Amino acid sequence: MKRWYELLMDDHTMTEKVFAAMEKAFESPTAPDRETVSSMLDYIVGYVEACHNRKEEEHLFPLIEERGIPSQGGPLAVMLAEHEQQRDLVAAIKSHGEAFVGGDATALDALKATFDQYQTLCKDHYWKENDILYPMAIKVMSDEDEAAVIRGIEAVEASLGEDVRKRYYDLAENLASAKEVKDLSVDVDRDLMAAILNTLPVELSFVDADDTVQYFSHEDHDKIFPRSRSVVGMKVHNCHPPKSVHKVEAILSDFKAGKRDSAEFWIDFRGMKVYIRYFPVRDKAGRYLGCLEVTQDVTAIQQLKGEHRLLDDA
Ligand SMILES: [Fe+2]
Ligand SMILES: [Fe+2]
Repeated sequence: MKRWYELLMDDHTMTEKVFAAMEKAFESPTAPDRETVSSMLDYIVGYVEACHNRKEEEHLFPLIEERGIPSQGGPLAVMLAEHEQQRDLVAAIKSHGEAFVGGDATALDALKATFDQYQTLCKDHYWKENDILYPMAIKVMSDEDEAAVIRGIEAVEASLGEDVRKRYYDLAENLASAKEVKDLSVDVDRDLMAAILNTLPVELSFVDADDTVQYFSHEDHDKIFPRSRSVVGMKVHNCHPPKSVHKVEAILSDFKAGKRDSAEFWIDFRGMKVYIRYFPVRDKAGRYLGCLEVTQDVTAIQQLKGEHRLLDDA
């Protein structure tokens, strides 16, 4: 059977695993999954705050205070003050985290910043408890005191439902072992990727989230609407005739607000039926990265009749 301080130190170890997993998720160039953030919130609020800190505050700290370790000044006072700071940070993490999980991608920066302060504080706090406060407590506690703290730990856990510790430890392990799923394109050579984009039977242009032209495909090919490299870096408003610029701005603002997922037009141009579509480009968390324009000559597609199977050429 584990001693009381081993149980509390196991909690610290598990929580540090969650911190390491989240740090990795926040450092990734793409935003973390909402599910990952939601699990972290559950762990911090439901276990660290509602369970671990309560075990200490309700059963360990009062007992060692009775045994002569003062709660004013000294390590116990520091631990209590740090629990207060943790509580404030958890409230902030919870509000930014819930906004992010609810679809507000702009909450990510504040979430990362508060998480960072919180984990720095907690790691330092755990070290002080493991190496200073707990050894100090062991010295003043009798066997009966130790048994009472264990009973207290069990009572707090039981008050939160069945197998609460196992449930949260499993959640921590899952977060820690979650494999980073990278998009397959990550390992594709850049020149190959450029060649693939230039082979698509559609022409692409991309303007970033600040409405600045970043890219267009088929640079050295015949294009439906010829354009030169000088458009890169230009604001999209300067690339459209004044007559239609307000329409472009309305589409972009709808994309940014998440109000629509495409806009399409088709025109007759030099004997072709040209189909032009706009799509908002978003990351996994739904954050707007820019707008993709896809232009296609659909004349031949419109004229398709019957079938032409691969085997017909054999
Ligand atoms: Fe603590
Ligand atoms: Fe602790």
